[in-house]
Amino acid sequence: MKMPKITLPVVAFAISIIFASCVNDPNSPGLEYMPDMYRSPAIEAYVDYGEDPYYVTEEFAASQRNTPSANRPVEGTIPFVGDDKAFGLPYAYPNTPEGYEAAGAELTSPLETTQQNIEAGALLYGQMCTQCHGAEGKGDGAIAKNGHIVGIPDYSTKLKDLPEGKMYHTLQYGKGLMGSHASQLSQKERWLIIEYIKTLQGNDVESTETENNN
Ligand code: HEC
Repeated sequence: MKMPKITLPVVAFAISIIFASCVNDPNSPGLEYMPDMYRSPAIEAYVDYGEDPYYVTEEFAASQRNTPSANRPVEGTIPFVGDDKAFGLPYAYPNTPEGYEAAGAELTSPLETTQQNIEAGALLYGQMCTQCHGAEGKGDGAIAKNGHIVGIPDYSTKLKDLPEGKMYHTLQYGKGLMGSHASQLSQKERWLIIEYIKTLQGNDVESTETENNN
């Protein structure tokens, strides 16, 4: 069979490359066709390596190299961004009786009391709290009824005037036979549930909905 015409130049080219790769010096890496792939640059965070001097001149690249590419976060700060930034800070009150009282006096919800928030809270309450507190918050959930946990207070009587800061404190650390829910509920979820509990307390909850709230 006759070989296609293209074959000879291709074979010659391949052989020339193979020979070109061979060098006598044992320490030489030979011809590197894509050096970037052999020796990838060791990039450090917060260091600007500048643009490639090949394209922008060494002088310009050197001046770039001396300026940091990103600012380091200020020491002791906690970065948080986005819509949920009100919920990104660590809890400020200690797990002590004084911390509980202080939270009750000072801590207020970053959420607005809207129908939407109350409904979202009701859903979470149904998933996380009814087994003890009962659907209506009377302290008569299934676990209370079968006698495993006793003394669950009724929101509408004993806890009628419990401030929201204390509710949050209890969700954070737990209280008595109720465990901490800090690892099970995000900060926002905790405040959503509290919006719902405020309706179970039976007090007239004033809507804090503002006109431009959607
Ligand atoms: C295992 C049962 C159990 C579960 C689950 C539970 N609780 Fe409780 N909760 C209790 C008990 C018991 C108390 C009474 C604690 C005390 O005062 O000693 C209590 C007390 C409370 C109080 C009053 C705290 C205070 O400051 O006096 C609030 C508010 C509360 N729970 C909210 C919730 C919410 C919200 C959930 C769901 C995320 C929940 N609980 C889940 C058992 C439970």
